[in-house]
Amino acid sequence: MALLPLLSMVSSFLFLSSMAELPMLEHPLKSDGSLSLLVIGDWGRKGTFNQTLVAAQMGRIGESLDIDFVVSTGDNFYEEGLTGIDDKEFEESFTNIYAAESLQKQWYSVLGNHDYRGDVLAQLSPVLRQIDRRWLCLRSFVLNAEIVDFFFVDTTPFVEHYWDNPKGHHYDWRGVAPRETYISNLVKDLDLALKESPARWKVVVGHHTIRSASVHGDTIELQLLLLPILKENGVDFYVNGHDHCLEHISSNDCPLQFLTSGGGSKAWRGILNSVSDKLEFFYDGQGFMSLQLTKTQAHVVFYDAFGNALHKQAITKQFHSQI
Ligand SMILES: *[C@@H]1O[C@H](CO)[C@@H](O)[C@H](O)[C@H]1NC(C)=O
Repeated sequence: MALLPLLSMVSSFLFLSSMAELPMLEHPLKSDGSLSLLVIGDWGRKGTFNQTLVAAQMGRIGESLDIDFVVSTGDNFYEEGLTGIDDKEFEESFTNIYAAESLQKQWYSVLGNHDYRGDVLAQLSPVLRQIDRRWLCLRSFVLNAEIVDFFFVDTTPFVEHYWDNPKGHHYDWRGVAPRETYISNLVKDLDLALKESPARWKVVVGHHTIRSASVHGDTIELQLLLLPILKENGVDFYVNGHDHCLEHISSNDCPLQFLTSGGGSKAWRGILNSVSDKLEFFYDGQGFMSLQLTKTQAHVVFYDAFGNALHKQAITKQFHSQI
């Protein structure tokens, strides 16, 4: 069977029947029914711009929280993604940097706009898992962990101006073009997957911002096409990178929280704009985020490059019997 080698390569999780059209993976909870993870974005710079410092603190916090996995919000390799599956930057920016014991867990990654400027198929290739078995990057997928479903969304193709090769940058649209078909299918699949999800917590992960007080600000295409279905389907958190900072914004008209974790390496752009929702926390520097979940509680913490907890948010959900 041609499938067997593939299945053994991905032994730390299971491919289940797909939820709608999105591939679905599964991750077990801890024996006490909880889950904890770190979120990092905008990182791969061969250790420079304090990437190594942030990584060391992720290792320390990851150990104290006994994390189950790591989520990467994209822009995994600067400036132009990977050149191919044999690009040494994979080891130089990932394997050798996130070397701490506690980070030797599964990493679930999406692609950022910089990743699209290289060989995008390389990052999606199972061959990378032979080099470092932690690596898993897919375009869009659902990760189920009983109490929570994570919906990873490939946001780069939404952004219209990338399709005009801005500043002469080439984007690798293999498997994506034409844009309109790709996006309308993705929005439909995501909406269906959200509707079918019985999980208590729903977390959507993408690279681009929906709400941001930093340089890039709101991403208009996501605000128009994604935000309505996140609100309609009771999504708890939208987690992203793209702006190289840490921020927490809460929606004015629904329970949705916007969490930016894009402080994996280069930061400090010195811009703070007003936002149309409520800005709860903003740090224009390097760091990362943790998320701990139980059936009834979510704890979000943002950390700086020294591992100091800068901002904490706890959310409690009352228990309702499942429908
Ligand atoms: C590294 O982090 C320190 C402490 O936050 C900061 O002062 C410094 O500017 C950072 N260096 C770079 C290159 O980002």
